[in-house]
Amino acid sequence: MSIDTTTPLSQNVHLQRWVKKMAALCKPDAIHWVDGSQEEYDQLCEQLVEAGTFTKLNQEKWPGCFLARSDANDVARVEDRTFICSASKEAAGETNNWVNPFEMKKKLRALFSGCMRGRTMYVLAFSMGPLDSPMSKIGVQLSDSPYVVVNMRIMARIGTDVFKKIDESEIRVVPCMHTVGAPLKPGEKDVPWPCNQEKYIVHFPETREVWSYGSGYGGNALLGKKCFALRIASAMARDEGWMAEHMLILGVEDPTGKKTYVAAAFPSACGKTNFAMLIPPKNFSEKGWKIWTVGDDIAWIKPGLDGRLYAINPEAGFFGVAPGTSTKTNANAMASLRKNTIFTNVALTPDGGVWWEGMTDEPPAQAIDWQGKTWTPEIGKQTGAKAAHPNSRFTAPASQCPTIDPDWQKPEGVPISAIIFGGRRSTTMPLVYQAFNWSCGVYIGATMGSEMTAAAAGTIGKVRRDPMAMLPFCGYNMGDYFRHWLLMQRSLSTTPRIFHVNWFRKGEDGKFLWPGFGENMRVLKWIVDRANGHGVAKETPIGWVPGYDDIDWTGLDFPEESFNELQRFDRDAWRREVLLHEELFLDLKSHLPKELIYERELLICRM
Ligand code: GTP
Ligand code: SPV
Ligand code: MN
Repeated sequence: MSIDTTTPLSQNVHLQRWVKKMAALCKPDAIHWVDGSQEEYDQLCEQLVEAGTFTKLNQEKWPGCFLARSDANDVARVEDRTFICSASKEAAGETNNWVNPFEMKKKLRALFSGCMRGRTMYVLAFSMGPLDSPMSKIGVQLSDSPYVVVNMRIMARIGTDVFKKIDESEIRVVPCMHTVGAPLKPGEKDVPWPCNQEKYIVHFPETREVWSYGSGYGGNALLGKKCFALRIASAMARDEGWMAEHMLILGVEDPTGKKTYVAAAFPSACGKTNFAMLIPPKNFSEKGWKIWTVGDDIAWIKPGLDGRLYAINPEAGFFGVAPGTSTKTNANAMASLRKNTIFTNVALTPDGGVWWEGMTDEPPAQAIDWQGKTWTPEIGKQTGAKAAHPNSRFTAPASQCPTIDPDWQKPEGVPISAIIFGGRRSTTMPLVYQAFNWSCGVYIGATMGSEMTAAAAGTIGKVRRDPMAMLPFCGYNMGDYFRHWLLMQRSLSTTPRIFHVNWFRKGEDGKFLWPGFGENMRVLKWIVDRANGHGVAKETPIGWVPGYDDIDWTGLDFPEESFNELQRFDRDAWRREVLLHEELFLDLKSHLPKELIYERELLICRM
């Protein structure tokens, strides 16, 4: 490599000392301080092509795009290998895996000892949030994966400017250790996707550190994302009076030009990217309705001086689910990923392009599947083999999104008028309802359930409680997290209105009752109307709901009976639902705020 890479790009003595100490532990062959330049990115991509990790796509059709295939044992987040190592088990809470931090450090030191032999250690400084935002936080990831470096360059602000910021101020950075856990013996040939069977994704919330071992994939390895921006940041947020949430942020522009921002928490692979980039139905856009995208996965939210909540997107890119993404379901995502995108575990077409299930109605006649094998629609039918892995993803710059909000990098963030919770539920949950007030809304978020998806290893389809879509991402005791939510109200003079949506309710025929996607605009309009104080609603035991006539149906033939079926309050199903809430509360009993028990009692009384 022509760039002199061992010269530190930061003069900060603490940082330099830490890098030296970690290099002495991990024993890499070389150290590369990442400057974040285009030349460096291009060189690393070239190097990844030579190593067989990357396939360069047809540059005429897919300029600046690459495809990576991971090891079949490294395809998703590993929640059972994710640890919150707080000083006490109680601080981590019942929902997190906990190991005594001293024991875990000892274990990690042994695992990391010599783990980077034969590899380069990259020193990657990154900022979560725009560099000029007072809400941003800085981390430094040491990683032996060039794949991680190039992905992080899309997902976060990295390089020289971040080192400069570290040198200018006395701010504390979050140290993030990462290795794929596959040291090379002298002369040993590398594999395209090095990783280890044994995986550890470890967080130390008190000392604000992350240690990740054995995986190169997604949230396991791009440590700015789930590890820092959610697990560590949620602990910081509790201490500092703000919120780190698994939420998209979007702006709704009405025909008068007024913009209303909403944040929405849906579990992994439940439609955040789709909703964040929603394209309104024709009659809506003709009237002047427009959706602006601020973020698709994570929101950092803080009370402003005016007593409202303001949100920033700490990320700079989208790490989006590929399957199901098409010009029909998400044209804005498709436009975002047309160039400068890294695809992981999708299929390769004979013309050097990519394909995944749902991208087009017609599959290609032949392709190379995500495991590098020949795939045809025939083989797919016979064996059930998917061309793309269900959790295959694209890493694309947010700036390439056609609907990216002009204010998406505003240092102070955007004001949030509504918060939406939602899961994947084939029964029970109506299309939309509104909480009576903040604490009722916190109850709705806290008791949220969703059917599990391929984003994490586990049983797909099983309903599990996923409070605020944060079950895998809360860096401390879930009961304390609920309390933090309840307490946030005290810092606010105007609370956002809280809603619950479900795009996934099914009929007796097993088909979705709701067309979803762009049509979600109709629900969103009602939500925004309500948040702005002028939408009509009816009271029910669970909350406020729209009547058929309170939704704008122009351009969609959706009969009143179908709407009633979607909104149906099924008393028996809700009885069972409330029992599941109780089960969750029993699991969390030690730190559960009283307010939530009262909310549950009120709900039962109303029913
Ligand atoms: P993470 O990136 O894992 O946090 O997930 P995400 O919430 O961003 O997931 P994403 O938007 O990529 O969700 C993808 C899945 O949701 C695909 O299977 C989509 O087809 C499905 N989906 C999104 N919106 C809708 C909808 O309105 N209706 C239905 N039926 N499916 C939807
Ligand atoms: C999720 O699983 O919620 C994601 C993908 O957004 S990952 O970054 O891998 O966690
Ligand atoms: Mn996510």
